[in-house]
Amino acid sequence: MKSNSTQEVTLNPETLPSHVAIIMDGNGRWAKKKLLNRIKGHEKGSQAVSSIVTAARELNIGMLTLYAFSTENWSRPKTEVKALMMLLKKFIVSQREDLSKNNIRLNVIGQKHKLPLDVQKELDTTMELTKDNNKMLLNLALSYGSREEITTAVKQIAKKIKLKILDPGDITQNLICDHLYTKAMPDPDLIIRTSGEYRLSNFLLWQAAYSEIYICDTLWPDFTKDEFVEILKNFQKRDRRFGKVACSTSNDG
Ligand code: FPP
Repeated sequence: MKSNSTQEVTLNPETLPSHVAIIMDGNGRWAKKKLLNRIKGHEKGSQAVSSIVTAARELNIGMLTLYAFSTENWSRPKTEVKALMMLLKKFIVSQREDLSKNNIRLNVIGQKHKLPLDVQKELDTTMELTKDNNKMLLNLALSYGSREEITTAVKQIAKKIKLKILDPGDITQNLICDHLYTKAMPDPDLIIRTSGEYRLSNFLLWQAAYSEIYICDTLWPDFTKDEFVEILKNFQKRDRRFGKVACSTSNDG
C-alpha cells in the first residue's frame, strides 16, 4: 500500500495525533488555475483523498475525518452536486478492497439519509464490509454541518426529557457528546484546512474546542503525504495546555 513519499518519515509515535480532521478545500480554484471546469478539480481532489487515506494509515493515524460534503454544499449548482455524488460513489466502491486490505473501517458522520439512495447503498455495503477493521477509522463527513448536528442532539435530548427518560439535571457535556454523530470518538487533536482560508466552515464546532489548527495554502488536489508529514511534525512541536498552565512554567512545580 505504499504511497509516493520522497522523504523519510521521522515522527515520534508517542505524540502522534489520535484523530486528524481535514477540511479539504480548493478543488474549484485548482481547476480555475488550470483553466479546467470545477468538476475536474473535484476529480483530482478525489485522487488526493485516496492517497491521503493510504498515507494516514501508513503513518499510524488512528482516526481520520474528512469534510467531503457539507449541509451548505447542497446549494451548489445541481450539476456540481451530481458530480460530487458520482465521485463519492465511485470512491466508496473503488476503495473497498484497499480499506479491507489496510484494516480501515469506514464510517459516515452527517445526514446520510439525505444522500441519493444509490450512494447510501454503496456506503452501507462498504461500512458493513469494513465494520470489524480496527487499525484506522475513516470518517467521511457527508451532508455534515455542525449546527445541524448540535440542533439534532438538542432535539433528541429534549424528547428524552419530555418522555421522562432524562431529567434536565442529567444534561452534561458528556451527555451532549453522546448525542453527536461523533459519539464515542475522541475529539480531533489536529484540524487541517487546505487552500489558505482561515475558518472552520461549520465543521466539528463542538469537537474543535481544543483542537490544534493548521492552515496551509496548498489547494486540496495538490496536497501530498510529504506535506501531511510536515504538518504532523509541526503538531508534535506544539505545547497543548488545554486551558491550563504548562508544567514547566507553573509556580507550584
Ligand atoms: C472544496 O472545494 C471541496 C469540497 C466540496 C469537498 C471535498 C470534495 C472532494 C475532495 C471530492 C470528492 C470527495 C470524495 C470523498 C471522493 P471547493 O469546490 O470549495 O473549492 P474552491 O473553494 O476553490 O471553489
